[in-house]
Amino acid sequence: MVISAKIVYGRRMSVVLAHVTDAHVAPAGRRNAAIKDQSVPIFRDLVAQINERGADLTLFGGDNIDNHGHGERDFEAFMDISASLDRWVCIVGNHEAEAKLPGYLTKAEFAERVTGHGISADSLTFSQGVGDVRVIGIDTTLIGTAGGYVAPRVMSFLASELNRAEEEHIVVLGHHLLYRAWEPHQLHQWDKDYLVANRDSVIALLASHPRVRAYLCGHHHASRIQRIAARGNYGGFYHILTSSPVSYPCAGRFLRFERDGIHVESMQPRMPQLLEEAREAVMTGRKAQRFELLGSQRSFLQYVSGRGTDNEALLPYDHAPISILPAPAESSFLRRREGEWEARGHDLL
Ligand SMILES: [Fe+2]
Ligand SMILES: [Fe+2]
Repeated sequence: MVISAKIVYGRRMSVVLAHVTDAHVAPAGRRNAAIKDQSVPIFRDLVAQINERGADLTLFGGDNIDNHGHGERDFEAFMDISASLDRWVCIVGNHEAEAKLPGYLTKAEFAERVTGHGISADSLTFSQGVGDVRVIGIDTTLIGTAGGYVAPRVMSFLASELNRAEEEHIVVLGHHLLYRAWEPHQLHQWDKDYLVANRDSVIALLASHPRVRAYLCGHHHASRIQRIAARGNYGGFYHILTSSPVSYPCAGRFLRFERDGIHVESMQPRMPQLLEEAREAVMTGRKAQRFELLGSQRSFLQYVSGRGTDNEALLPYDHAPISILPAPAESSFLRRREGEWEARGHDLL
């Protein structure tokens, strides 16, 4: 399926995608490290910002609903708010991939109910063209575990869609990470919890297609952009990890496909008080404790927020293996407000 990019005054505009992952929508959500009790107003505000911006397509990256005992209600709230968007597609996360228990939706049930928005009753994957961008959504979940896995049939789907794609740019949307966002540190438990187990094969496949620009993911509730290089000096793609609306720094992203590269911008809920609450909440979690084991010189808040170039960046299509360029300073509203980002500069990869 293909939808066309917006045309204004007869001119075709650059494609703008919105990426919101791990919204964990839950009207009866309880606060833990994430402020799930505020998931509904936060999600509503981000959707309003996407509408104001006029994004061509919105991508929901899994854990769209919290699905923790009130699956039906979470789903209704999610659909109700998303209904104001022009076009949106989604994939499933581990929160939609629960075993069949009372109060939980299974991923098949979730997929069936969102038919028409990417995945459907027949398929947990999708391929959608928008202007000169092809978006391929994949299922990286494995029921019974928080960790990721790309099943053989999903790999085949991905391979055939990559081969068929005619667009100038290809973006792949998954829930789990293909790469350690906490690099150069190592933590076995985080590998298990957050990464796709067979990521080497997925990376090899994506890196072998020169028009794959980025892999978008969530699940780790942190913000980081890294470059995965192919062998040699050419090829490779960006690994764009986006934070969760309910976990500090509560951000989603806009990706604008221009001639010189992908222009990345962050969006946060326009609720300063909630951001303060989210900052306090995130420090109480197990992830903050585990972070201490890494021995990083950065603080946990700095880690989840990412650097300036993890949030506002120009990602060139061509000489991408060298560096990520900072975006113009005026677009950096998030940095000014939070003060937790580090000094900008080229982030060598
Ligand atoms: Fe999540
Ligand atoms: Fe997740």
